[in-house]
Amino acid sequence: MNTKRKQVLKELGLTPLWRIKSDYLANHAVTQTHSYIKNQHKKPPSAIKTDEARYADILKMDWDKLINSVTNCKACPLNQTRTQTVFGIGDQHANWMYIGEGPGAREDATGEPFVGQAGKLLDNMLTAIGLKRDDQVYITNIVKCRPPNNRNPALDEARQCEPYLARQIALVKPKLIVALGKVAAQNLLKRDESISNLRGRLHEFSGIPLVVTYHPAYLLRTLSAKSKVWEDLCFARATMQSLT
Ligand code: URA
Repeated sequence: MNTKRKQVLKELGLTPLWRIKSDYLANHAVTQTHSYIKNQHKKPPSAIKTDEARYADILKMDWDKLINSVTNCKACPLNQTRTQTVFGIGDQHANWMYIGEGPGAREDATGEPFVGQAGKLLDNMLTAIGLKRDDQVYITNIVKCRPPNNRNPALDEARQCEPYLARQIALVKPKLIVALGKVAAQNLLKRDESISNLRGRLHEFSGIPLVVTYHPAYLLRTLSAKSKVWEDLCFARATMQSLT
């Protein structure tokens, strides 16, 4: 292991290293594919129809149209409190896609995901497994606008943003998705389960393998989760290696 990586792991408190057992991948179940359009919640029939038409339009967009559509989106009330939308950043043909929950204050001010304290930790997590932002990595969020006071996105806010994320995933075609935290994991998998239940297993989203780990902001508050995150990163890296 090179010195830079050793330093990063030390800073993260992720040493001593956790090693993936060779039979680890084989023993982990693949869970159900998520179908986002089917999961309509209760809305009047006319509104559902409008949603479906909007989803169908978004799912055909190229990058420019998609960025433009997100920038001008007024589909949920978050548009009234945002400074700007936070679309996503990175390699548009990345093998890895990291998905967080939603922009915070720094992201809302800059328009880039994960630029605050949690973002620095995410960068360290990437470095720890030999990755960097912009190189084979695409980073985005479940919602593209900041929820006021950093609250969790509401169900309908997340649902209005779903087609944007689905289109980003379809355009990037990552080999592996890493869901960062409970909000990302639950929205992507449509499962109301805790992170501790969801991590350590291989899931999938529209046929793309997906792994779950703790959100870097949680990690900043909960030092005891570091060894689990390191375990998850190793699992993700081993999964990627098995795919390439
Ligand atoms: N937390 C997130 O989930 N996403 C960001 O972009 C920043 C913080």
